[in-house]
Amino acid sequence: MGNITFDFTGRTVVVTGAARGIGKALARHFAEAKATVFMVDFDKDELEDAARDVGAVGIAADVSNTDDVERVIGTVIAETGRVDILINNAGILRDKVLWKLTDSDWDQVLAVHAGGTFRFTRACVPHFRNQEYGRVVNVTSYTGLHGNRGQANYATAKAGIIGFTKTAAKELAAFGVTVNAISPNAATRMTASIPDEKIAELTGPISRFADPSEMADAIGFLASEEASYITGVVLPVDGGVSM
Ligand SMILES: NC(=O)c1ccc[n+]([C@@H]2O[C@H](COP(=O)([O-])OP(=O)(O)OC[C@H]3O[C@@H](n4cnc5c(N)ncnc54)[C@H](O)[C@@H]3O)[C@@H](O)[C@H]2O)c1
Repeated sequence: MGNITFDFTGRTVVVTGAARGIGKALARHFAEAKATVFMVDFDKDELEDAARDVGAVGIAADVSNTDDVERVIGTVIAETGRVDILINNAGILRDKVLWKLTDSDWDQVLAVHAGGTFRFTRACVPHFRNQEYGRVVNVTSYTGLHGNRGQANYATAKAGIIGFTKTAAKELAAFGVTVNAISPNAATRMTASIPDEKIAELTGPISRFADPSEMADAIGFLASEEASYITGVVLPVDGGVSM
């Protein structure tokens, strides 16, 4: 855990939802592996602290807002001249049984997860094409693969990300770009409110949530040059819960 296997010297990485949890662990992983890292989050205060802690550049932005997304990629290109790796990780929950979900619960969750993934990938494509190189790793979920009570909005968004991943993998392969997804299961603020008696059911044979750094190791592999022949996959990094 936490060992650096791949060298990202000279690579520019953008991680969304990076102020905490999986995104912050990822940003740290890439920074330690010598990449230039841009951390994106809409929680400005927490992002500033996280970016200082990791030694990366923090850019406050809302992934569901096209102008924000274009501004982020514009800054990244202005500062480094390239964008090699995009990690679409930002996420929110608005959990309720489907008959209680409001239009806003539905729209916000789709706009952040599916909309943010689309907007950031679209903004990177011209640069990927110029470079003839790119790596995109999207963060989906067990819920997107199998459904979960109370999460119809989130399940739809995360399943949408899987369809998007496979479509983008097909459209971008000709430009040296791979697009993959992981389905994580890590202890973060998002999982903090899960009652103890549900943890065994939600964590499968390994019977614990992962440390977020264990997600970073898997994503680091998919984002590496070495993973050049892997595209369009959804890799469960979930302790076997989705078997
Ligand atoms: N933790 C798990 O076990 C688990 C399981 C399945 C999927 N996921 C997914 O992993 C990703 C990371 O989750 P986490 O557990 O680290 O959660 P987290 O809540 O700790 O982190 C999510 C981050 O995204 C940011 N964010 C939310 N909306 C944003 C927006 N519109 N613009 C910019 N930033 C925004 C938040 O401020 C936060 O910092 C999410 O996509 C989540 O759905 C997590």
